[in-house]
Order: sequence, then C-alpha cells, then structure tokens
Amino acid sequence: GTSRKMSFGFNGKMNGVEGKTPFLIGVSGGTASGKSTVCKRIMEKLGQVDKDHTERQVVCISQDSFYRDLTPAEKLKAEKGQYNFDHPDAFNNDLILQTLRDILAGRKCEIPAYDYRTNSLIKDKVTTIYPADVVLFEGILVFYFPNIRDLFHMKLFVDTDSDTRLARRVPRDINERGRDLDYVLNQYMNFVKPAFEEFCLPTKKFADVIIPRGADNTVAIDLIVHHIWDILHTKNGDSASGQHPYIEHRRTS
Ligand code: CTP
Repeated sequence: GTSRKMSFGFNGKMNGVEGKTPFLIGVSGGTASGKSTVCKRIMEKLGQVDKDHTERQVVCISQDSFYRDLTPAEKLKAEKGQYNFDHPDAFNNDLILQTLRDILAGRKCEIPAYDYRTNSLIKDKVTTIYPADVVLFEGILVFYFPNIRDLFHMKLFVDTDSDTRLARRVPRDINERGRDLDYVLNQYMNFVKPAFEEFCLPTKKFADVIIPRGADNTVAIDLIVHHIWDILHTKNGDSASGQHPYIEHRRTS
C-alpha cells in the first residue's frame, strides 16, 4: 500500500488498514543479566513520567515463551543436561517473527507458556497480548536473526559481568527451575557460557544503548525512559509516506 498511514497508539488514533503500531523495544543480554528487571523498571517509570496519559499500555514479552517443544529424544537429553537451550535454533523463530509482525500491525496475539521444570510448553495455556503503546521483547538471542532484529525501534543490551550472572543463575535454577548444583554448573560450562560467547555477545554491537550493571543502573534507565517518552510525544506519528513514524521523527529532528 503506497498511502497507508500508521500512527503510534499513544495518540489513540486508528488510521489505516490495521491497528496502532506500538513502539517496539528489544532487550538482550546474557543469562541472568537482569533483562526482566530492566524491563520492569522501564514499565514502572514510563507510567510515572507519563503524567498526561495515565492509561499508557506497556507490555513485556519474553523470548523464553517461544522455546520449541522437544522431541522425546531431546527431552531425555535435556533431563541429563545435554541439550543446548542457548542455541538460536532452540527457539521457534518463525513464531517469534510472526508474533512481532502481528504486534507491529496492532493485532492481538497469543503467546505460549513455558515450564522450565519440565522443559516443555504448557499444554492449553496461552497468554493473550492486546495491542499496546510500548512493547518490550526480552531474551538472550533477540538480536541474533537479522529479520527479527530489524523489527525493533530501539535495541538495549544489558551488560552484566559473567561472574555476577553466574552467581545469580545458580540459585535461581536450583530454587525456581528444579535443578541441582551439578546440573546447573555442567550446563553452564558446556552450553550456556560457550553459546553466550558465540551467539549473544556478538549481537551487543547492534544495540543502541548498552546498560552496564543492568537494573542497578538507574541513571541509564531514566535516560532511556525519557528518550522513549520524547519519541512518543514529539511527533504525532502520521506519515503519508507509509514509513514508520519513528524513522520520520529521526529524519526530521
Ligand atoms: N533454560 C534452561 N532450561 C530450559 C529453557 C531455558 O535452563 N528448559 C535457560 C537457558 O540455558 C538460557 C536461559 O534459560 O540460558 C534463558 O533465560 P534467562 O535469559 O536466563 O532468563 P530471563 O529471566 O529472561 O533473563 P534475566 O535473568 O536477564 O532477567
């Protein structure tokens, strides 16, 4: 469509063939770097800073919801700590792409639910994601595939020391994910660490903002939130060219 118009949802406009286009933010970083907490802080602060719009809809989605279901053979491997959950192919990347495209088109979509204790999708359980103004998508490999990476309007990388991350991951996996110490450390040395170095760390260069120390970095999070707020309010988002309003905002400012 040559004259299709789009608008950010924050204006409450629905002009064009599909729904409102949210501001889509990708948040990556190694395991236990604090991605979820950074997302939570952004969500909280965006609500606070946004005095003239109390009904700002911000949602956060995790890449972990898109783990592939395992075959019986893979399941056995996973139980023995011999399955690589940190490889890009461990995720249903087609579904990630489709979901993010639906979100950008303002369509409501359904997200699978995942259980780390059984390494499997929870049968008959989905979460419905309704069109929002800002959508955060967080995960270890959200910047890996170019076709997924290119969909984000803003890319953040949470940069936390690997020893800090390991110190957080061990108790989390034991307490919340039903693993024992041996399992966690073996999985970390055999898969998590090498895959981080091979697949996740090289995507840091695609980030717009790198956040040292993660969620403790309140200055960085405040700056990011104010920038998001500016983008959402400076331009009303109409674009006769059919280009994304954020791109136009960048071009004209
Ligand atoms: N993983 C696992 N078992 C599964 C599925 C995933 O151990 N059945 C692990 C993978 O090894 C991967 C990690 O889950 O390293 C991904 O989740 P992580 O990024 O650690 O969790 P988040 O809560 O998304 O991130 P953060 O702690 O940074 O908030």
